Amino acid sequence: MAKETWKAGNMLYPLPAVMVSVTDGEGNDNILTVAWAGTVCTNPPMVSISVRPSRYSYEMIKKTGEFVINLTTEKLAYATDYCGVRSGRDVDKFKEMKLTREKADFVKAPMILESPVSIECRVKQVLELGSHHMFLADVLAVHADPAYMDEKKKFHLNDAKMLVYSHGEYLGTGKKLGTFGYSVKKNKKGAGKKR
Ligand SMILES: Cc1cc2nc3c(=O)[nH]c(=O)nc-3n(C[C@H](O)[C@H](O)[C@H](O)COP(=O)(O)O)c2cc1C
Repeated sequence: MAKETWKAGNMLYPLPAVMVSVTDGEGNDNILTVAWAGTVCTNPPMVSISVRPSRYSYEMIKKTGEFVINLTTEKLAYATDYCGVRSGRDVDKFKEMKLTREKADFVKAPMILESPVSIECRVKQVLELGSHHMFLADVLAVHADPAYMDEKKKFHLNDAKMLVYSHGEYLGTGKKLGTFGYSVKKNKKGAGKKR
């Protein structure tokens, strides 16, 4: 059966839902959940987040030009949702969700200790696209939780049970189906053969 055609809209799923931590540089920190986030360049390492100007966090990012992207896990699903439906204008999300601030190396915004990966970012460009303004940013540093590193320092991110946001629902990442390049890798069992 042919697919139904809908009017143009956002349907690129699944996505990570990340917790973005911000500060105004005057002692006020906040967290907002962002699903409109992406990797945009490998070298230099760059990311983007798109934020509605009405968000309390928006002015903080605009003012400092800095933010931290904190990856989320199944364990952080509740906090991820909460930080996306309550405003820092009304509540202290660090306190309400019992999240721990960790000092970053390059930016003033705090990292979230409970997140397995925190990415320090500095805004390079703001694109005023429409409902959302996109902050294009340089990655200044990546902080990874050693709890997921083996003795050879290999980082096993997926052991942290990463969280996925898809069409209004939060999910886990499910079972591993392959590794990068497995479709062309030759092995004894004939993996990589065209089927
Ligand atoms: C799963 C999820 C994804 C979201 N993604 C975005 C987003 O990409 N951009 C955005 O501006 N708001 C997004 N939001 C909404 C904000 O996180 C929400 O309005 C939040 O309360 C803003 O916090 P603040 O007012 O403290 O800045 C999302 C919310 C949820 C629950």
